[in-house]
Amino acid sequence: MRAAISCLLLVTLGISQLATAFKENEFKKCAQTSFCSRNRNMQQGANFDIVPGSIVLNTATLTATLLNKGFDKHLQLTVTSHSDGFIRVLVDELPDVGRYQVPSDVLVSGWETKKLAFKEESRTSSAITLSGGETKLVLNFQPFSLAISVKGVPALQINSRNLFNFEHRRPKQENDPAGFWEETWMGHTDSKPKGPEAISLDLVFPGFQHVYGIPERATSLSLRSTNGAAPYGEPYRLYNLDVFEYLDDHPFGLYGSIPVMLAHKKGLTVGVFWLNAAEMFVDVVKGRSEVGTQWIAESGILDLFVFTGGSAPAVLSSYARVAGTTALPQLFSLGYHQCRWNYKDEEDVKEVDGGFDSHEIPYDVLWLDIEHTNGKRYLTWDSSLFPSPVAMQEDLASRGRQMVTIVDPHVKRDSGYYIFSEAEKAGHFVKNKHGSDFDGWCWPGSSSYLDVTSPAVREWWAQQFTLDKYQGSTKHLYIWNDMNEPSVFNGPEITMQKDNLHYGNVEHRDNHNLYGIYYHMGTAEGLKLRGSQVDPENGDRPFVLSRAFFSGTQRVGPIWTGDNAAQWSHLKVSVPMLLTLGLTGLPYSGADVGGFFGNPDAELMTRWYQLGIYYPFFRGHAHLETQRREPWLFGPETTARIRTAIRGRYTLLPYIYTLFRFANTSGLPILRPLWYEFPENEDLFAVEEEFMAGPAILVKPIVAPGVSSVDVTLPVGARWYDALSGAAVPARSRSQRVTLDSIPVYYRGGNILPLRERPRRSTAAQLADPYTLVVALDDKGEATGSLYVDDGRSFAFQRGQYLHRDFTMKSLKLSSSKHVEPGVPSGALTVPTTIERVVFLGLPASKRGYKALIGAKHAVPLEPGPLTMLAPQYENALVLRKPGLPVSHDWEVEIVAL
Ligand SMILES: *[C@@H]1O[C@H](CO)[C@@H](O)[C@H](O)[C@H]1NC(C)=O
Repeated sequence: MRAAISCLLLVTLGISQLATAFKENEFKKCAQTSFCSRNRNMQQGANFDIVPGSIVLNTATLTATLLNKGFDKHLQLTVTSHSDGFIRVLVDELPDVGRYQVPSDVLVSGWETKKLAFKEESRTSSAITLSGGETKLVLNFQPFSLAISVKGVPALQINSRNLFNFEHRRPKQENDPAGFWEETWMGHTDSKPKGPEAISLDLVFPGFQHVYGIPERATSLSLRSTNGAAPYGEPYRLYNLDVFEYLDDHPFGLYGSIPVMLAHKKGLTVGVFWLNAAEMFVDVVKGRSEVGTQWIAESGILDLFVFTGGSAPAVLSSYARVAGTTALPQLFSLGYHQCRWNYKDEEDVKEVDGGFDSHEIPYDVLWLDIEHTNGKRYLTWDSSLFPSPVAMQEDLASRGRQMVTIVDPHVKRDSGYYIFSEAEKAGHFVKNKHGSDFDGWCWPGSSSYLDVTSPAVREWWAQQFTLDKYQGSTKHLYIWNDMNEPSVFNGPEITMQKDNLHYGNVEHRDNHNLYGIYYHMGTAEGLKLRGSQVDPENGDRPFVLSRAFFSGTQRVGPIWTGDNAAQWSHLKVSVPMLLTLGLTGLPYSGADVGGFFGNPDAELMTRWYQLGIYYPFFRGHAHLETQRREPWLFGPETTARIRTAIRGRYTLLPYIYTLFRFANTSGLPILRPLWYEFPENEDLFAVEEEFMAGPAILVKPIVAPGVSSVDVTLPVGARWYDALSGAAVPARSRSQRVTLDSIPVYYRGGNILPLRERPRRSTAAQLADPYTLVVALDDKGEATGSLYVDDGRSFAFQRGQYLHRDFTMKSLKLSSSKHVEPGVPSGALTVPTTIERVVFLGLPASKRGYKALIGAKHAVPLEPGPLTMLAPQYENALVLRKPGLPVSHDWEVEIVAL
């Protein structure tokens, strides 16, 4: 008993220690930040008017002069209508004083060209009304405000509360308030040479109750009001930071920023994107009949995109026209990744790799953290621990596996280190305010930071990844970019001074949130360059994981949610975190399975794998000071459960890869909140306890210990099937019994899922395997689905070297036809693979059963059978065995009742 009590005490201590390890006072609050507090506490006041007679309407563009009455200062307002479903609202100083604008390479090139003419509906002395497509826009002159509606439904009001503010450049005055020109915090003085230049933006979503987005933070999916009890009395912050031991329920901003927000109500989804890379705060206040928000950025310009497509998929695909879609990943990178800080040496690598095979658990990639290097000099090896890195990688590759090494942006200041000496000589480092190379403290000690905001520095950086430059690398080696917020241990808030200087004399204040994406880009370009040397015809798609991110990161590579903890609450919050990333255009993301800090027990580990197989990026990782936790170290029962889970991931890969194809072509998310799939059901708008993986799978994670039953909501308007038993389950809230063996997962009727069921050691070993189709019928007996296949690694798919089939079940006929998508070149690849099983769920009862007529040739009876090969104990499905249907060609199978 005594022992039990002290044990309990220890556990409690451990947790509370963790909970307080987030050093809140190391980070600024709004009240401690001059630009935030002076704008957040601004009084309502009609300070900005449209100058009468200044309006010019030129087809798709309206310009007007804004007058800041308090200062008699003019600004230029430009409103443009674009045919890809959005309106752009720009405000800058008049005349132009060269305020910072996010460079065009952060976005997709050419997005601004397609415009849609405005039609002038009416004009009075106080307002002008314009329309473009289904969008209507009313610009009021005094005070300036803009009301946007879509299909007659109010969508957004800009400055309806008069909180808009635009601090123009000004000469220093004697009586300027404190904080205008200099600010000191925790011993760091920010010299602020340009003085105040913040912008406050007031956006109201009329008739809405829910807003989503503005990652990254560990908080709810539907954003809470920021005028509540602590910690929700603080605005949401967008400022990429290395937040040590972050909390699981907090508005504080983490490693990445996407200034995108979606608002959803019955009948309408609208999105906004403020293209601005400076520190930003966002207040959300929910009223009875609207959500009011105030956005405050430290510098830059107002460059606001309003997405008016009407539905969440339309908003996301419009956003993708501007910020880009997800790069199609290599197939191997959708398998399971095994990481640890650190796999110590080559022997360790061999043992871990062998452990997967001897326990028959598939995996694809083994990762090496910072200790593999020679003294944290990235792109080098510790030659005593890793004497033969090439042979090590080739050995992994002989079993179809890859390796990933970590490469961080801080460069050890050591003239004997070639990266440092070359970069120093070429002037490739970020400068301090005095113009000399910035010197900050990070893993290797004294370090300088590559100025990746310069295209020339990125080009040089990319060249470091070719096989002749990166000694000990092979074409099986991919990269992980950590610490790219950037993290500076001795800097303000563990990052760089805001008055540091970048390429083009840009202050770090202006582009802080871009440092991560630019570093990520440079690295990915490096792997692309290497790939084009190894395979000049087809190239090699890069795989680079990043921690920091911004709008556009989806075009570069995946991110993960950073240093989480081995706690149930962190398992739980991973779901809203990943859903939010999917809703802001960055679906290729994951949370570390098991939790980075601390030691998970067998149950937490099991539940984390059971959820983790649905993470778009699926990696296990652990801190240096944790106990070893490879999947087989928790006893044979747990090993078996984790094996089943990970094999389940590999079974789902054809479905997941096909979802990634759609993410690549149209910007659609992989994981989706229920409301995304059921947008008219208000009860679902805040649900984050369960989610959809693509359109076809509903997942209910178990996020607490000792659970034997859970409440599951299966949305009405669909037919549902238990994914283990195939049994039809009524659409409503229900209590579901659970064991440790699995979490509740359901197939949604109306979908056809392509699977690969044979257990294999890696994705490479699955390549020739036949497919299973699961046909889950809806109430009308219909279903559709598709399968996308390519070489899984190169860019040949962009030349049409891919196969994309559509499957349709209707009137008891299942058929396969070529998938056609407007604007996408059609696929020319054929593969010899066949479909070896078709599983039907929800066929109407037939006394004597069914047979399948394949082509005109032969009839095969459908047999009652297991839904999956992996769960042979259940018999709720009707299975067509060995139909031998070719994947590459058209066919039809008719199901006939006997
Ligand atoms: C899809 O992914 C590829 C490869 O990463 C990328 O080059 C391309 O721009 C992406 N988008 C589209 C629409 O193909």
